[in-house]
Amino acid sequence: MMTKPVRHFVDLTEIAAEDLRGILDNSLAMKKRGRNGARPLEGRTLAMIFDKPSTRTRVSFDVAMRQLGGEAIFLTGKEMQLGRGETIADTARVLSRYVDAIMIRLLEHDDVRELARHATVPVINGLTRLSHPCQIMADVLTFEEHLGPITGRTVTWSGDCNNVTASWIHAAERFDFSLRIAAPRELRPSRELIDWIEREKVKVSLFDDPFEAVDGSDCVVTDTWVSMGDEEAERRHNLLKPYQVNERLMKAANPQAIFMHCLPAHRGEEVTDGVMDGPQSVVFDEAENRLHAQKGILAWCLEGGA
Ligand code: CP
Ligand code: NVA
Repeated sequence: MMTKPVRHFVDLTEIAAEDLRGILDNSLAMKKRGRNGARPLEGRTLAMIFDKPSTRTRVSFDVAMRQLGGEAIFLTGKEMQLGRGETIADTARVLSRYVDAIMIRLLEHDDVRELARHATVPVINGLTRLSHPCQIMADVLTFEEHLGPITGRTVTWSGDCNNVTASWIHAAERFDFSLRIAAPRELRPSRELIDWIEREKVKVSLFDDPFEAVDGSDCVVTDTWVSMGDEEAERRHNLLKPYQVNERLMKAANPQAIFMHCLPAHRGEEVTDGVMDGPQSVVFDEAENRLHAQKGILAWCLEGGA
């Protein structure tokens, strides 16, 4: 008998563009139906392993499971036997006997891959140092709700090139839009990612000057200057100051441009209060959309169809 492959959600590049589109369509449909819609995950359980702090990812996955009729179990790496040396492979094998999917947030991307390799249930990447794919599903949903289809549009990232930037880059390839990146040379995407951009001919351009980068942009995005696991905070602050998203920078983008940030924001650092609380900011719609996007992702992983 043919068994269906397990649907992991580790990086956007590993999921067919039409499946990603299907997930977004389903997320939007479920958002429209509200909290009392269908309960397709009745009787299903999600294990959520957090090795790093979280507000949005933790709460949105938990609430998404409840609203879809399922349940979530919150675990921390330290309190599990993982923290005392049980291997990731054995943890994957054991959890696969209890739960229907595993969502994990930890720094090392290879550990998520290892978990996915040995799990017989879907594994969802809740953020690693290399990517944050669930976030960008919510971000694309938010962009499209405010401005229409993202395909062919222009998004500018100004700031540190981190895990969130990497998933934006992956999204530019999957959803076919242009991504302009303004960052200090020392904090640009990794050589490996640049090689992939060149090989796949992704519409990504790099800028030294954030004002040049935002010219003609439909959306300006940034994130913290110091991500979880980053060192040399002072050096990063000094390098990144010119890339702050402030009112002056937003004025240089298209008049209808929106501002996005995955949150948590460090007000007065990567973004000013004026932009965060200003008319172009959609950051709280974006945070809300984590819930709706998680539902689409969970349904795709667990239902075997978007
Ligand atoms: N944006 C995001 O992932 O937020 P949390 O760290 O609060 O989950
Ligand atoms: N780039 C940030 C995102 C937090 C949601 C970090 O990794 O800390």
